[in-house]
Amino acid sequence: MPDSVCPQCGGSGWVVVERGGISGAERCECGLAERPARLEERAGIPPLYRNASLDNFLLPTDDPAANRALANVLLSVRRYVREFPATDKPGLLFIGDPGTGKTHLAVAALRMLLARGFEGLFFDYQNLLDRIRAGYDPASGATDREAYRSALETEILLLDDLGAHRVTDWVEDTVTSIITYRCNHRKPLIATTNLRDPDAGDPAPMVGLGGELSSRYYLSERIGMRARSRLFEMCKVIRMPVTEDYRLRKTR
Ligand SMILES: Nc1ncnc2c1ncn2[C@@H]1O[C@H](COP(=O)(O)OP(=O)(O)O)[C@@H](O)[C@H]1O
Ligand SMILES: [Mg+2]
Ligand SMILES: [Zn+2]
Repeated sequence: MPDSVCPQCGGSGWVVVERGGISGAERCECGLAERPARLEERAGIPPLYRNASLDNFLLPTDDPAANRALANVLLSVRRYVREFPATDKPGLLFIGDPGTGKTHLAVAALRMLLARGFEGLFFDYQNLLDRIRAGYDPASGATDREAYRSALETEILLLDDLGAHRVTDWVEDTVTSIITYRCNHRKPLIATTNLRDPDAGDPAPMVGLGGELSSRYYLSERIGMRARSRLFEMCKVIRMPVTEDYRLRKTR
């Protein structure tokens, strides 16, 4: 959000102008009225999710328990967006099986915040690490400043598919540094993962059940204990109820 309120429009983005005795609203030259559209353009949201919203997130009609559970999920997301930035915890962490709507909801939350004028970026976890690594120069120890910097500094970071990557010390260190930095500065992080965690009600790593390979792992195994514990410290955990894979359902 801009720190100082524009004296021209008082922060509304619109000014009343008179022309030929008729007054009407015009966009203020501070550009605040265009801000949400610009913010959304720059956020890097993948095309598949560009229109994701809470309104086009459907609740199952054939399964009352799943319907209720998902309705509660929607309530939590709504409350987070409404209270933002004065939320209980600065971030959200969606945990659940592939195809349960985690990315859809994470993007929906981000888009609502962009519409309110906050700045944010969507990063696919794997892609972010690849970009940071591509710019990593082992000789100088310097990293691709741009991707790394923006992951640290952007007002709201959406990190999609956290942990979908094999573990190396480098990955663990990089993720830990991003999450720790954001946690220490109370910078919002919205993350999704299909990895399991005992604190999210997952008793043991599950094998099979059509899940992706990564879902057999615990979150801590993929991103390390430190990053995992900071993540839980700074994010409200939203456990996606078990429903049929929406991607499979759609193709039927
Ligand atoms: N309840 C839902 N209502 C409408 N669309 C959904 C719902 N759940 C998932 N989708 C859509 O199905 C696809 C897969 O969902 P996604 O959010 O990518 O799942 P996940 O991130 O949990 O793997 C996306 O295109 C998403 O928009
Ligand atoms: Mg996803
Ligand atoms: Zn203005």
